Amino acid sequence: MKKLYIETVGCQMNVLDSELVVAALRKEGYELTASTADADTVLFNTCSVRQHAEDKIYSALGRIKEAKRDDPKKVIGVIGCMAQKDQQLVFDRAPYVDLVVGPGQLHQVPQLIRNIEAGAGQQMEVSLGRKEGSRDQIERSHESFDPLRDPSMRPTPFQAYVRIQIGCDKFCTYCIVPSVRGPEQSRPPEQIVAEARQLVSEGCKEITLLGQTVNSYRYQAGERTTRFSDLLTDLHAIEGLERLKFVTNYPKDMTDDLLAAVRDLPKCAKYLHVPAQSGSDAQLKRMRRGYTVAEYREMFARTVEKIPGVAVSSDFIVGFSGETDADFQLSMDLVRECRFKNSFIFKYSERPGTKGADLLPDDVPEQVKRDRNNEMLALQNEISEADNQGFLGRQVKVLVEGLSKAAQKKESPSAEDNGPLVQLIGRTMCDRIVVFDGNRRQVGQTMPIAIYDANVHTLFGTVVTQHVGAELVTLE
Ligand code: 5AD
Ligand code: SF4
Repeated sequence: MKKLYIETVGCQMNVLDSELVVAALRKEGYELTASTADADTVLFNTCSVRQHAEDKIYSALGRIKEAKRDDPKKVIGVIGCMAQKDQQLVFDRAPYVDLVVGPGQLHQVPQLIRNIEAGAGQQMEVSLGRKEGSRDQIERSHESFDPLRDPSMRPTPFQAYVRIQIGCDKFCTYCIVPSVRGPEQSRPPEQIVAEARQLVSEGCKEITLLGQTVNSYRYQAGERTTRFSDLLTDLHAIEGLERLKFVTNYPKDMTDDLLAAVRDLPKCAKYLHVPAQSGSDAQLKRMRRGYTVAEYREMFARTVEKIPGVAVSSDFIVGFSGETDADFQLSMDLVRECRFKNSFIFKYSERPGTKGADLLPDDVPEQVKRDRNNEMLALQNEISEADNQGFLGRQVKVLVEGLSKAAQKKESPSAEDNGPLVQLIGRTMCDRIVVFDGNRRQVGQTMPIAIYDANVHTLFGTVVTQHVGAELVTLE
């Protein structure tokens, strides 16, 4: 058996890509290993969305240099977004790398490794850039090989990601995604439903649909158009599926039919991640987000009105080109007003190859970016904590994901199923993390938990037995 070590950074899309690569390599006789030392092949699945993510990979490559010198047969590969963005530069910076493969060429990984083993030297396969051919040619050069799955690489055995769309056509000026992941293409609905059905038959209870702008999904076949809401309805009908989630949404495509579907389909999480990025019109314009703050507010109000109990989360970029204190305060106002369940806050990181890097100066000093990041995080934390405190004394339904990190450290893997209580971790329908004491047998079950404590990121609870009579909150 050959051994594969794979390290993944970045978004859920990358986690899914790694699952598919592992599935393909298992077919070649590989098994996974947790150490680079005894691996025959070492793969880094990379991210380009911020400089920091790239720096991490280049330093990991630096650390592997010696291992490669000691064992020249070890195949070292860089795959994913940074491979597509940097291409030959990866070989220039780390000449001992054997393999560079973009996210649209991952199906080639097994063959390319075979070529390297046969002595063919360094191998590189990347997709066409956004200006390197006709739309059709570029689309065809970004391929995803979704049907191959590998249960061991899923977040848990009962949770899986399903891709419904690749690429992005929005071209926000700060973002590298449209160039590394190519044109937006929706997958045929039949394929998606078949894949979901298969996953559910293997025991998956929760499916998270993935796309850069998942709610822009639209599939045209002859006269028939499948909208995202139609797709949700089709997936909802799968027997055995308990939870349906999706990320990430584009504010302008939050249509009424979608909101109605989320409201009316019980398996659909009443949780929507809809990144605002900024609360300043001037900044949204420079970002070319395609909406105004008033339009975002309108979308937000409509969402809250149409879906009772909905939880909305957001992303913000602070310190984007030209952001003044006043612009930043407008973003703070939006956070304060919308009271997002949580927000992911990022310091602007200029990405070569984007319109932002070409046309707009990266002119907010690092210290100012850091201060704004901290200020917004403090505000969001206050809001998230207050939101979580609202659950004290209530019951939530939790899909139990496994042992908490603390419990994993303590437990030996051979512990009996019916052993003493362990600390378990799970999530509510709206993605709130819940920690409680339970039995290993409860992993994978959906169960009511009564909440007695809460902090910014976590709810703490106890398993509800029948004699505990608290109000049952089914929405969260
Ligand atoms: N710098 C900082 N944050 C970025 N994001 C995307 N591109 C950049 C960048 N160049 C953030 C956006 C997006 C999230 C996934 O990452 O907020 O929603
Ligand atoms: Fe990037 Fe904008 Fe596309 Fe999101 S919508 S992936 S931020 S270009």
